[in-house]
Amino acid sequence: MGLASKRPRVLVFDSGLGGLSVIKALMDASIGADIFHLADTAFFPYGEREDDALIKRIPSVIGAGIAQTQADLVIIACNTASTLALEEVRVEVSIPVVGVVPAIKPAVALSQTGVIGLLATPKTVTRPYTDALINRFSQGKIVLRHGAIGLAGAAEEKLAHGHPDPLVYQSAIQGLLDQPRGDQIDVIVLACTHYPLVLEELAAATPRPFQWVESGPAIARRVAHLLANQFDKASPCLEMGFTTGGQDGPTQQVLLDFGFEATATLSVMKDL
Ligand code: DGL
Repeated sequence: MGLASKRPRVLVFDSGLGGLSVIKALMDASIGADIFHLADTAFFPYGEREDDALIKRIPSVIGAGIAQTQADLVIIACNTASTLALEEVRVEVSIPVVGVVPAIKPAVALSQTGVIGLLATPKTVTRPYTDALINRFSQGKIVLRHGAIGLAGAAEEKLAHGHPDPLVYQSAIQGLLDQPRGDQIDVIVLACTHYPLVLEELAAATPRPFQWVESGPAIARRVAHLLANQFDKASPCLEMGFTTGGQDGPTQQVLLDFGFEATATLSVMKDL
């Protein structure tokens, strides 16, 4: 990676502000790198977009982000994107790519009842990649899935100091618990990077306590491993927050409030 003479630059990519939950984990792990966030706001929410359009778009937008930031490593901090286009991005770019995919394995290890809830976007729950993870790691345990409509949007609204309808949290949880054997769920996987940002609201909507599993800490460990000793054990520097324009709304302000030094709009090809 040629990082000996400078701090590593890490690009965190998501459809929106979900990358912030992964950046929080990088902060907790004291990964002293220069962090850039790229939110593809013009195409949010990915979880309700067609796969063909996403496959075409994601590698190009990430490629533009890498060119702009000169990143040494990119995190696709989006389960919806990673479960669809991880390989396409790896083919397109020449730096290490860390994907964020549903954390089935740790959830299976935690479950006492053998019934796990998987909360993700409507796209992520139907992907062959997700089927393969469940087949590989569920070890005879049951994984009940629910594709939550509007939950990532509620997280965006909350971060922008809006007041999302509380029913969105209730219906996401009930979508899991109302399934056959849903009453036995003891672990819920938050398989969308937006969901840890509304964990408090989700927990308040549940009739009983659950163990929640998110991907951030494992991603931070993976990034630390890939960067080896090339970062200081310090807090990351939040350099720039990019959006792709269109309906940016308050996203750039949220990035500034989170601690990014500056924000900008990244131009991507018009026909994407
Ligand atoms: N944050 C994204 C994920 O992890 C999804 C949000 C969206 O639907 O765009 O899946």
